[in-house]
Amino acid sequence: MGPRELGLPMQVASPEPGELPTEVTIWEVGARDGLQNEKEVVPVEVKLEFLQRMADAGLGVLEATSFVRPEWVPQLADAAELLAGLERAPGVRYPVLVPNARGLDRALESGVRDIAIFAAATETFTQRNLNRSLDEQFVMFDPVVQRAVGEGLAVRGYVSMCFGDPWEGAVPVEQVVSVGKRLLEMGCWQLSLGDTIGVATPGHVEALVRAFVAAGVGVDRLAVHFHDTYGQALANTYAAVRLGVSTVDSSAGGLGGCPYAKSATGNLATEDLVWMLDGLGLKHGVDLGKLVETSVWMAERLGRPSPSRVVKALGTAEASGS
Ligand code: HMG
Ligand code: MG
Repeated sequence: MGPRELGLPMQVASPEPGELPTEVTIWEVGARDGLQNEKEVVPVEVKLEFLQRMADAGLGVLEATSFVRPEWVPQLADAAELLAGLERAPGVRYPVLVPNARGLDRALESGVRDIAIFAAATETFTQRNLNRSLDEQFVMFDPVVQRAVGEGLAVRGYVSMCFGDPWEGAVPVEQVVSVGKRLLEMGCWQLSLGDTIGVATPGHVEALVRAFVAAGVGVDRLAVHFHDTYGQALANTYAAVRLGVSTVDSSAGGLGGCPYAKSATGNLATEDLVWMLDGLGLKHGVDLGKLVETSVWMAERLGRPSPSRVVKALGTAEASGS
């Protein structure tokens, strides 16, 4: 079931500077971004089943956890235990967040081959999230990236607060491009542009993507990461995809948030993204029915319904048999 079956017109024109891709990689962050903000710590067995179910639903990239300081994010303090219990599905990647040398040691001990460092475009947020200034974050990340790349790991670079910061307000596009370029120069293979507090709108997204392209960073190096605080995440994703961005971060059922950012709510729901990609005829590899079942199952574990519109629509219809 998808929007095509409803017989709606789906044609879109290809814009500059990129073109609408034929395929989108969904970078599923539910197990990490989704669960890091939960009030109660989710049992490791539930996290493992969640990952297993998402792999069964066809998701090819499952950001699994973070090797951050456990006192900072107790929800993910079980990272080593989780990876020890993880049955890796064939062909599925399981990246993790790593902030520093200690985190990289722990990730390597757990057999990780795919990591992400997480920078920010603003001074206040680097202080609050990393206990470092904007410049100091690079001093912390640089040796991590050098060692990881030297050991053959793939390193993704997040940039948080790309569109607005709850303490500093609007964030200049040039500031974001400058931070992003430093991460690429360090050795990151991809940048994920984060709207941590969900304030972006499509015109702003377009301006940022175009600014990266103008600065020599192709859309093939960019991913987008939208939180849905103001209901703009899907529209923002569409703006980026139309410009050729072909990696999109989302979380099953719309779980998510950041414990160190006021007003950060859930990520773009993967089900809402899949519905839109189906409508556009873009390949993604996900079985929407299985994913909705997973999010309904997870919502029962968390004791509250999923905020995803598609989970509400399909989950209810399935449950009632209508
Ligand atoms: P710090 O307190 O400055 O740590 O934290 P430190 O470097 O001063 O070290 C103090 C002690 O912590 C040492 O132990 C270290 O070994 C230990 P001691 O010598 O005193 O016994 N330590 C660690 N232990 C285990 N694992 C580690 C680790 N590091 C230090 N990795 C730090 C600095 C960066 C570690 C801290 O600020 C931190 O963990 N921050 C992470 C915050 C976080 O996870 N935020 C959420 C993820 S970001 C996000 O959600 C945004 C994103 O989704 C994109 C978007 O939406 O925009 C990605
Ligand atoms: Mg996030």
